[in-house]
Amino acid sequence: MPPPQKNYHTAAPEPETAIDRSHGDFPVAGDSDEEVYFKTHKAPSYLAEIEEQTKQFVEYHAETTGKRIALVTSGGTTVPLENNTVRFIDNFSAGTRGATSAEYFLENGYAVIFLHREFSLLPYSRHYSHTTNCFLDYMIEKDNKVEINPEFADEMLVVLRKYQQAQKSNSLFLVPFTTVNQYLYTLKSMSTILQRIHTKALFYLAAAVSDFFLPSSRMPQHKIQAQPSGKLVVDLEQVPKFLRRLVDSWAPQAMIVSFKLETDNSILIKKAKDALSRYQHQLVIGNLLQSRKNEVVIVTPNGEQEWIRLTEEDKSKKVEIESLIIPAVKHKHEEWMKSWQQKSTA
Ligand code: PMT
Repeated sequence: MPPPQKNYHTAAPEPETAIDRSHGDFPVAGDSDEEVYFKTHKAPSYLAEIEEQTKQFVEYHAETTGKRIALVTSGGTTVPLENNTVRFIDNFSAGTRGATSAEYFLENGYAVIFLHREFSLLPYSRHYSHTTNCFLDYMIEKDNKVEINPEFADEMLVVLRKYQQAQKSNSLFLVPFTTVNQYLYTLKSMSTILQRIHTKALFYLAAAVSDFFLPSSRMPQHKIQAQPSGKLVVDLEQVPKFLRRLVDSWAPQAMIVSFKLETDNSILIKKAKDALSRYQHQLVIGNLLQSRKNEVVIVTPNGEQEWIRLTEEDKSKKVEIESLIIPAVKHKHEEWMKSWQQKSTA
């Protein structure tokens, strides 16, 4: 018998081949950038329907459960190069951080709007949908029937119960996007709707949003043909950094948590602090491409830094770092809500 097949992770780039991000950050998007962007790019055709469903979800929790709502963004965004899209530019994010965090938000009493890249990992099904973890491996054939392999049954029952609880309590709302344009439009709409619950809204922006895109005004309608030069030159523009707009006008009372991904440890904290002063939000979670599943640093506007690291024992027990991140974020969110309460009673 050949030895069991080993899993190789081809999707993770070698750190030294990753992009150098030690240069300055992109300019913040202002009012006019917002206006120009939304004037020159069409809203997705399904947006009105999603807005309606989001309103119902938010209204339900505002009126019935009183739960706080976390909007979790997750996965990469694609940048189409053609209108009838054959080619596009993408990035590495599988949505692990977002999908895992969403589960722990639910466990910590939040309702969750999961704004995710379609076909990236989803809460609960992520345990069985990853290619290194094929769902068929969890089944056996017995007496001409399919059964759950008893080896995994206990573990699956735990996941199944949590999933069903999220469904039954109407606490998880899944909203997909694929392109940067869909992401930006949907984020803007949802932020505005979440104003309904004021400080009880929390934005947890784990998506890896493309930094560059091809504006629709310059996008070819059909598949790009072979060029006489034998080369294809693509002239991309910067995606406006809408984080400041989110803080200032789309959801001014919500707590906003962004992520900072770097590959060089020595600049991580500085970049996290720069992001806080640039966007004026409440929390940055810094992570390195190479070690993002084992350690993160939470940075606050007053300069506090809290490292969260998995110990060797945690790793052997398969503890997920998000199970430690979310309670820390929840604690900060409680402080944020209190600070607004104090402001309004002062
Ligand atoms: O999905 P995984 O494989 O688990 O990987 C998780 C992750 C590494 C992608 C995640 O933990 C992470 O770090 N995400 C943010 C990546 C990043 O550095 O983004 P940024 O520097 O381009 O943007 C900063 C923040 O602004 C991010 O929170 C981003 O979601 C948000 N952003 C960025 C651009 C934009 N136009 N709109 C945004 O909201």
